Amino acid sequence: MVAKKTPIHTGHNNAKTIVKVIQGEVTETLYQHHFGEFLPIETRSFKPTSPAFFQPAAFGTHSIGNASPTELAVSLHLYSPPYTECEFQLDGIPKKLPVVYYSDGADTHLTHDLKALEGQFMAQKKVYSDFHSLVDVLVNYFKLLKEELEKKGPVDLVKPDPSKIYRILKNVELNPKEWKNYISPDPEKGTSSHVAHNAHFSIFVVIWKSNESTTIHDHGGSQSWLKVLEGELEEIGYDSDLSLSSMNTLVVGSVSHTNGTRIHKIANKDRLSVSLHLHCPAYTKYHSYTKSGTRHSISDDLLGIFGETPSVDSPTSSSPKSQRH
Ligand SMILES: [Fe+2]
Repeated sequence: MVAKKTPIHTGHNNAKTIVKVIQGEVTETLYQHHFGEFLPIETRSFKPTSPAFFQPAAFGTHSIGNASPTELAVSLHLYSPPYTECEFQLDGIPKKLPVVYYSDGADTHLTHDLKALEGQFMAQKKVYSDFHSLVDVLVNYFKLLKEELEKKGPVDLVKPDPSKIYRILKNVELNPKEWKNYISPDPEKGTSSHVAHNAHFSIFVVIWKSNESTTIHDHGGSQSWLKVLEGELEEIGYDSDLSLSSMNTLVVGSVSHTNGTRIHKIANKDRLSVSLHLHCPAYTKYHSYTKSGTRHSISDDLLGIFGETPSVDSPTSSSPKSQRH
């Protein structure tokens, strides 16, 4: 962005850093701590014609930014090992912000600060991620939230703030090269793939064939979020007497939230669509409604075969579609 700078920060969790400017002009300023203030001591400037520049693991206090008030600047930053948490001071108060999410099979690199985690997701910022990392973030979020709530007493079921989960899903950008592995090679065959689950949530990827729609249903008490990954879906809401109450078009990147008792129907148009569904907690039963108002209680025993351990399933674990929308 124009005239945008990072906070003044020290090092990158001991990561070595290489930066290449792609567009515009990027400046790097080094600072010295002097009687409670950070004073600039050196500024370097880089353009696309400049070689990539290096910041060592033990790099000093610095900021980097676009000095131009009118022109955009773009730079590519490579950190090794991954830069996971930015430490800086704001008005003299130490702050930490998660920077990137990645999965290495352990949660040792994830933040342990609930406020920092929430702060990252409330920011209007995209987080490029994969399923494993998304699951790690959600597992970490529920763990920290449970710990916070348990300070006031025992907690059986964690009920998250819907806007926080919305923000996680809205900001996350999944790589189509990854989620396309979950799509059946036959575009006429809609499927749903169980991607991840634990005691707090489950995630499905649903592939919608053209003109496919669900029945009118609720979610048996589970909250749900839907993110469109490809195509376009209609979400049709109903009142308790099954009269039409709303109709929303969900395009790529849209996220919709459904509380456990809301009655709705999801419909695809005349092309293939793909959506991600997060249910909290994973639901094992729901109600399906006919136009005449008859309510059927449906048990979905698929989840019964899964244990409590957080996991990410392989792309081959597709199952015929049942009602998880
Ligand atoms: Fe649904």
